[in-house]
Amino acid sequence: MRIGLLTGGGDCAGLNAAIRAAVRAGSSYGDEFVGFHHGWRGVVEDESSTLTTSDTKGILQNGGTILRTAGFHPHEHEGGVAAVMQTVERHQLDALIVIGGDGTLDSANRLAELGVPIVGIAKTIDNDVAGTSHCIGFDTAVATAVEAVDRLQTTGESHDRLMVVEVMGRTVGWLAVCTGIAGGADALCLPELPTDFDELAKAVMRHHDAGSTSSVVVVAEGALGGAFLGSPDGSAGSMVSKELAQRTGYETRLTVLGHVQRGGPPTASDRLLATRCGVSAVDAVHAHRFATLVSIGDNSAEIVSLNVVSSGARPVPETLLRVARTMTAW
Ligand code: F6P
Repeated sequence: MRIGLLTGGGDCAGLNAAIRAAVRAGSSYGDEFVGFHHGWRGVVEDESSTLTTSDTKGILQNGGTILRTAGFHPHEHEGGVAAVMQTVERHQLDALIVIGGDGTLDSANRLAELGVPIVGIAKTIDNDVAGTSHCIGFDTAVATAVEAVDRLQTTGESHDRLMVVEVMGRTVGWLAVCTGIAGGADALCLPELPTDFDELAKAVMRHHDAGSTSSVVVVAEGALGGAFLGSPDGSAGSMVSKELAQRTGYETRLTVLGHVQRGGPPTASDRLLATRCGVSAVDAVHAHRFATLVSIGDNSAEIVSLNVVSSGARPVPETLLRVARTMTAW
């Protein structure tokens, strides 16, 4: 078969592992691959190159994506959807494997509804794609953020400071919740819940009264109702930092982790997940199971309907929020 492959939206660790796995799995079937560059833009503009197993040698452990990426949606550009159809026709593609987050996969779903033979793979450090419980890149982002929290704990303790750390997560607090729990943070500010600065300050002061000389507060960028997303007046983290410093009187420092969370080599767990996704996607192509998304569980690799991605961001489950609530203040 002839299979097109693209990575779209924000990059994350593990994309190369998924590309490598798909190409290797396909080569065992005798497939040929066309790699589209910069996500859907590469399909619309036919910016592409052939992709062979030798092109994917030595990339398993590398962050980023050899195909490059972009947040581009064909239906938002005049003639974009028709251009996708023409490219698929020109390259005589039997299938397209689309590796993306909610935006890229939503575009994939719209095209699949028009008959483009698509299998999707979910990636995003936000971990919020519906239809699967594991998105490529999330484990690495959590590991990176937890390492940062570990480091902030020791410098915070040395100076008796209140350390505020902002992580990504615009609408869902997966990254903040998991970083907070695994990093042993003292408090969280999440997109899911309103933040009461007076209560938060009291919780931090209680912690200090009980003998701690420092605290770590993890803030999702989309906390405070998302009011500071893309704001020139500072971020959610800077607002939390300012408000807590005023209310507690503690010396406070802010760290915004930003794109550090997206870069660097994937964890073993992300390499494994990405590899399983790549192999399963090629198997789905050969089973002619199109308009689908690969959903990897602990003991299973399911193929679910791609239209699940249009149901919105996958929320953090109440069981995990309960653990976070028990272990931290918010
Ligand atoms: O990949 C998802 C995400 O990391 C969000 O959490 C974040 O807000 C956004 O991407 C940032 O994207 P950009 O690369 O456009 O700054």
